[in-house]
Amino acid sequence: MEGPSSENDASALLIDFSFTPPQTPQRKIQQYVEPAIKEATKRQNGLGVEHELQCCMGAPDEEFCTSTNINTPTLTPFKRICIVGAGYVGAPTGAVIAYETDFDVTVVDYNAQRIAAWNSADLPIYESGLDHIVNSTRDGISKHADGVTTRSNLVFTTDVEGSIDAADIIFIAVNTPTKTQGQGKGYAADLRFVEEVTRTIAKVAKADKIVVEKSTVPVKTAESVRLILMANAQPGVRFEVLSNPEYLAEGQAVADMLDPDRIIIGSLPTPEGLKAADALVEVYSQWVKRSKIITINLWSSELARLAANAMLAQRISNVNALSAICEKTGASVDEVAYACGLDHRIGNGMLKAGPGFGGSCFRKDILSLVYLSETLGLPEVANYWRGVVDINEYQKDRFTKRVISCRFNTLTNKKIAVLGFTFKKNTADIRESPAITMVTNFLSEGAQVAVYDPRARKQQILVDLHQACDDTVALENNLMICGNAYHACDGADAVIVLTEWDEFSNVDLPTLEVQTADPVALKRSTVLDPNANNFVPEGTRHKEEELCAVSAFLGALEARNVKVESPRITSDDEGSEGSSVRVPITPAQTVPQWRIDWVRIARGMRKPMFVFDGRNILDHGKLQRLGFRVEAIGKASLAEANVGC
Ligand code: UGA
Repeated sequence: MEGPSSENDASALLIDFSFTPPQTPQRKIQQYVEPAIKEATKRQNGLGVEHELQCCMGAPDEEFCTSTNINTPTLTPFKRICIVGAGYVGAPTGAVIAYETDFDVTVVDYNAQRIAAWNSADLPIYESGLDHIVNSTRDGISKHADGVTTRSNLVFTTDVEGSIDAADIIFIAVNTPTKTQGQGKGYAADLRFVEEVTRTIAKVAKADKIVVEKSTVPVKTAESVRLILMANAQPGVRFEVLSNPEYLAEGQAVADMLDPDRIIIGSLPTPEGLKAADALVEVYSQWVKRSKIITINLWSSELARLAANAMLAQRISNVNALSAICEKTGASVDEVAYACGLDHRIGNGMLKAGPGFGGSCFRKDILSLVYLSETLGLPEVANYWRGVVDINEYQKDRFTKRVISCRFNTLTNKKIAVLGFTFKKNTADIRESPAITMVTNFLSEGAQVAVYDPRARKQQILVDLHQACDDTVALENNLMICGNAYHACDGADAVIVLTEWDEFSNVDLPTLEVQTADPVALKRSTVLDPNANNFVPEGTRHKEEELCAVSAFLGALEARNVKVESPRITSDDEGSEGSSVRVPITPAQTVPQWRIDWVRIARGMRKPMFVFDGRNILDHGKLQRLGFRVEAIGKASLAEANVGC
């Protein structure tokens, strides 16, 4: 990968320890710097009074919390936690529990290679902040700003049986892929790994245990787990089964764990079940507000997990279906999504049109819901949810066809540069990525495809494409995985942006939120920031230097191991008069490490040059001024209007 251009080199600022923030406006210091320092102090002193107060007084969702048993916590005698499954869920979960509590946490996996990677300096999963958390807890390196070395309380090991036996609480965090054979093939979750772990727990446990389902499982799995445990338990050993589903989104798993929207704990409504739930509440309440810890019944907890993903994916399919109408009518999908998202009943999350959703969970979970509906004799419900997945496939095909049609209906011997291969930014994960389908489609059209992604591993891209694409000759002869965007785009006829990585963007630096005294004036002055995720109010654009300054200071704090919480981008004290508009960025994200130079890309491409913006992350006007023809998801085809292609 090429280094940053000096113009955009924010990394130099990020390590400038001599930076002092006097140029930063006082308000920004209050917003970002003081909370960060407060956070550091709090961590030096243990949990602060403020935190305690928040825990006790946090405005709980009364409906739930009054019906829970979390108001009279019991101090748990439990001290050892075992997490079975060192994957995307288990390892970050274990690391954060170890980081935030004094529990001894053991993360186990039969896969020796994976465990070796977790014990190395090169962690097998990329998640922002995870290396710091693992280093602190696994190696006992300074946890916080004070430089004090802490006890190491996180172990990665292949000793599954020994670790289960030693633990008080065992989390099952193994994968539950979609079944590839037998009844429910292609839809139902394959629970074979959950069952194996359950049997192992029953076999080795010599004392009572709390078993926690962390993996995403179909409703009523806890019943099967309970049955297996009871049928195979050693004499006198009792188990309680809880459901505590994960709600981590990749790329922000650590942030999600440190500051979750909610922690759901499902238990049986028996005295033993409620007591077990209390023990788990006790673990989480060491860093999560009590009001965010919701205890509900086991089956609700299991279903809520699948339902949340299905509803999120459904929103993306809604907006993607609308994007097709926008392209035909001249409506802009960003404007439509914005207009709908302002209705608080709809909200503005998951309304960004794209080439289709990917990732390991959405498709799998919806299909599992489809299967569940069918087995419950509810074919209409099954069809309803199946439609969400169908629209997702349609979106990938639609975008492919648009590329082909704009390139004069043939891609044969044309070079197509694909920028981005992961299913979303800030992760190295390519599972179910729309890029797999699209690259396969381009290859089958006879194109030469050059792929560049900042994080995806070359080997993994090849493996996944080999699975998806039957044409091995095309894969061998016409596919290139490149180390940088310039290489991929050199001599290309078209660039297709499939992942919203910041480094691909050419949009002016975004804005931070500001306060305005007059909400009506603010509403009136609202303008669309072209092609950006959101509208931003006029007059809220901050100088680039200000953003750099804040970012630099936060970077310096982080480099000194001061844990900087995702800053709340609010301006003044909450509750003060005036309104605020939140733009979904954090200062740390505001200044990307570096961005590709589209002038250089243009210089190397064959003419006419096309950009297909599958994520609406580019400033199309700027690209057009460079001579690109731009086609964007959910926007009428400019090429059609201008050149009749
Ligand atoms: C998702 C859920 O968001 C998590 O709450 C859940 O815990 C997780 O699945 C899981 O089951 O483990 P994740 O798959 O990591 O998290 O990623 P998302 O951020 O939800 O994105 C999923 C896909 O939807 C990506 O391909 C993304 O690009 C796409 N997307 C997302 C859109 O196309 N538009 C949007 O507005 C949002």
